[in-house]
Amino acid sequence: MANSNVAFFFFFALLIGHGIVELEASHLVYKHLLGLLSSAPANQPYRTGYHFQPPKNWINDPNGVMIYKGVYHLFYQYNPKGAVWGNIVWAHSTSNDLVNWTPHEPAIFPSQPSDINGCWSGSATILPGGKPAILYTGIDPLNRQVQNLAIPKNLSDPYLREWVKSTKNPLMQPTAQNQINSSSFRDPTTAWLGPDNKWRVVIGSKVDQLGLAILYKSKDFVNWYQSKTPLHSANTGMWECPDFYPVPIHGQNGVDSSLKGPYVKHVLKVSLDNTRHDCYTIGSYDNVKDIYKPDEGSVEGDSGLRYDYGKYYASKTFFDDFKNRRILTGWINESSSVADDIKKGWSGVHATPRKIWLARSRKQLVQWPVTEIEKLRTNHISLANKLLKGGSVIEFSGVTAAQADVEVSFEIKDFEKAEVLEPSWTNPQLLCTRMGASVKGSLGPFGLLVLASEGLKERTAVFFRIFKGHNKYVVLMCSDQSRSSLNQDNDMTTYGAFLDVDIRHHKLSLRSLIDHSIVESFGGGGKVCITSRVYPTLAINKAARLYAFNYGSQSIKISKLNAWSMKTAKIN
Ligand SMILES: *[C@@H]1O[C@H](CO)[C@@H](O)[C@H](O)[C@H]1NC(C)=O
Ligand SMILES: *[C@@H]1O[C@H](CO)[C@@H](O)[C@H](O)[C@H]1NC(C)=O
Ligand SMILES: *[C@@H]1O[C@H](CO)[C@@H](O)[C@H](O)[C@H]1NC(C)=O
Repeated sequence: MANSNVAFFFFFALLIGHGIVELEASHLVYKHLLGLLSSAPANQPYRTGYHFQPPKNWINDPNGVMIYKGVYHLFYQYNPKGAVWGNIVWAHSTSNDLVNWTPHEPAIFPSQPSDINGCWSGSATILPGGKPAILYTGIDPLNRQVQNLAIPKNLSDPYLREWVKSTKNPLMQPTAQNQINSSSFRDPTTAWLGPDNKWRVVIGSKVDQLGLAILYKSKDFVNWYQSKTPLHSANTGMWECPDFYPVPIHGQNGVDSSLKGPYVKHVLKVSLDNTRHDCYTIGSYDNVKDIYKPDEGSVEGDSGLRYDYGKYYASKTFFDDFKNRRILTGWINESSSVADDIKKGWSGVHATPRKIWLARSRKQLVQWPVTEIEKLRTNHISLANKLLKGGSVIEFSGVTAAQADVEVSFEIKDFEKAEVLEPSWTNPQLLCTRMGASVKGSLGPFGLLVLASEGLKERTAVFFRIFKGHNKYVVLMCSDQSRSSLNQDNDMTTYGAFLDVDIRHHKLSLRSLIDHSIVESFGGGGKVCITSRVYPTLAINKAARLYAFNYGSQSIKISKLNAWSMKTAKIN
């Protein structure tokens, strides 16, 4: 414990669930955390206008996201001391609308032996009576990963500014008996109640390359015991930030994590440490045996489904009981060099909160930005029934192209000339890389050129290609960053995914949320999401432009385009 952390403790008892728990009040003054809210250097072209980020320093995973007394809470992994990872605490912001955020002092920071070397990721659970509890990973004096509990000090405070830690911490830890690897045991999920009225929680882990969702159970949220078998496991390496929740089979509403019944399926998301992708399967949960089984055809790992096929990691959902929806929040890492991050004084942003639900096919999830962000729309421009001839580019002026929301739908009449999809073309990202936006085709590439400079020296291309597959047409969606910036120090990987849309009977829609260094795109109404980080050197602020393009030989129709400038949100 740092010597500036002169503190006094007092103890009191609090009732949680069925048991009496002793808690330690954290009246610590952390002088080194003060100054948290002073800002980064001014005039930075890559800072966001409406994607969440603090004024400066490093951020990563969203943590413990919840709604309490009508206030949304976002905690997040934060380094108060710099723009690189380290010294991790739980920073805290609250919001009434998931758009504008008010900062608070860090909520959870090292103060006990069980978290003295860091307060890593975790989740909130709403206990009976509406009382929030947070389980999080602490790093102990031996640098072991252990699980801790914190609860609000004052339940009358809707901003939940002070948190007290259980004196029983750590509640779960690696031991000689359980053989859990102490450097691979982290990120507790939101807990859920089983039919036996016991809580269940899952912790991410691994044995060799077997990723594990280790299950613990508890009657009182304090005394936890490990279940004999994990909830699930698969050969995809370490599982970070697991998330496990039910989704109704009908409609777009969300449900509480404890809900079980014939009208829900379950989702298990894991963040793959090996590849840094958030992958999920859809399946069934047997709440007596406590086993989750992916549906047949729901593929594990990188070749399966991802929340986002671009830069997006360590996400977490929560159930918003105020609006009956499940909301997904995630971290968007930088694509710039560490040296550039240090120079600009910050690293990491969060994606737009997305509502998430099960697609009608029941084979994948659908995501859409929460409707609240539409409040930021201004300067509407629109267009309808515009033919985009092969080889054409059209510019849209009248919106601030560096900070915009663009929705477009394309219509294809004639499929005859679609190129054939070779049977070996199974990797969509590779296809997008080989056939970037400048490679001419037949039905495509067509889409948007965003954060583009005049003359297109710089541009990020978000586009589609349509192929003739075995017995259907196949839609490929790409986000090509190969010409996003003249600065070649950045990660310029091109991203891509196949999009499950019946293109003969439906229009092909694309929405891109453009925010200076972020291009967050939703294809097919949210069936494929791709987020890119880009750092243009010419196409910044007022110099940024917006175009639609079609470099295929066949004409495509823009059936509708709506674009808006986005106002700047209050993000801390
Ligand atoms: C608890 O929070 C409420 C609402 O902010 C406040 O009025 C009250 O003084 C707080 N109680 C304590 C003991 O701090
Ligand atoms: C435990 O996990 C760490 C981190 O991945 C790894 O380096 C180490 O080899 C693992 N130890 C054992 C005994 O599996
Ligand atoms: C974050 O981005 C950097 C730079 O592109 C990369 O080296 C690192 O692996 C990324 N980390 C994650 C978790 O995505």
